[in-house]
Amino acid sequence: MRRPLPVKTEAETTETSPAAAPVVALAPAAFAADAEIERALDAVDFDGVTREFKSQDAFVYMEKFLPRSVTEQLIAAARAVTPSVNRNYLPGHKQGGSVSRHTLDELAPFVAELYRSPALIGFLERLAGEKLLPSPQEDPHAYALYYYTRPGDHIGWHYDTSYYEGRRYTLLLGVVDQSSCKLEYRLHTRNPGVAQVDGAVAYPPGALVFFDGDKLHHRITPLGDNEERISLTFEYVTDPRMGTWQRFISNMKDAVAYFGFRQVFRQIFGRTKR
Ligand SMILES: [Fe+2]
Repeated sequence: MRRPLPVKTEAETTETSPAAAPVVALAPAAFAADAEIERALDAVDFDGVTREFKSQDAFVYMEKFLPRSVTEQLIAAARAVTPSVNRNYLPGHKQGGSVSRHTLDELAPFVAELYRSPALIGFLERLAGEKLLPSPQEDPHAYALYYYTRPGDHIGWHYDTSYYEGRRYTLLLGVVDQSSCKLEYRLHTRNPGVAQVDGAVAYPPGALVFFDGDKLHHRITPLGDNEERISLTFEYVTDPRMGTWQRFISNMKDAVAYFGFRQVFRQIFGRTKR
């Protein structure tokens, strides 16, 4: 039987000072993520994938996308930051762990390098049919790891609502998946007159899911006993401006449902002081 990961609850995280956490930063990757993505794209049928994305109302799934070398780097990153996982439990909606971009910046810079890969962004822009930009520095969700490590870990039906002036696209990459979890989705829920289409996919290590967050209604089904699942999410936007009230709502959601108040608001107040 696999041992569960030593993740912390919100309370445990709050009680532990950052200095006490036995976390060691990963060494920079020995290769350029961008070159690896370029290589992966050689095998992609761009026209076919783009057609599928558009026909599915801005949603596409590719079972094999990342080269094994990149997936291995992501697995190493996920293991390295495990002591920093923040667990949350929102009855009826969500249970699981997360690590924000701020922690990844400190401890696993390979993830940030992959997030900014021009080859990756160029591919996603081709799918979306519009210019995509990285999320602002203060957004803890720009890139984040999700950990499903305890039975029942899940997230209920939701949209990845954009609080930005423009659209928000979500890229999900499979990192670890020894689970029965599925990404279940509903297409066309906001398209009057278009029949809803339901589907479900597992996304194993190296798989890709890309969608417009305001269009795809989706959830992750609960983790079973002795299972484990780690997923990476990247968020790109078409206009990084955000109103003050929307920023407040977004930060509160991230603090309560994902990363904890310390991670979210320490960054904001730290930034204000500089
Ligand atoms: Fe989501």
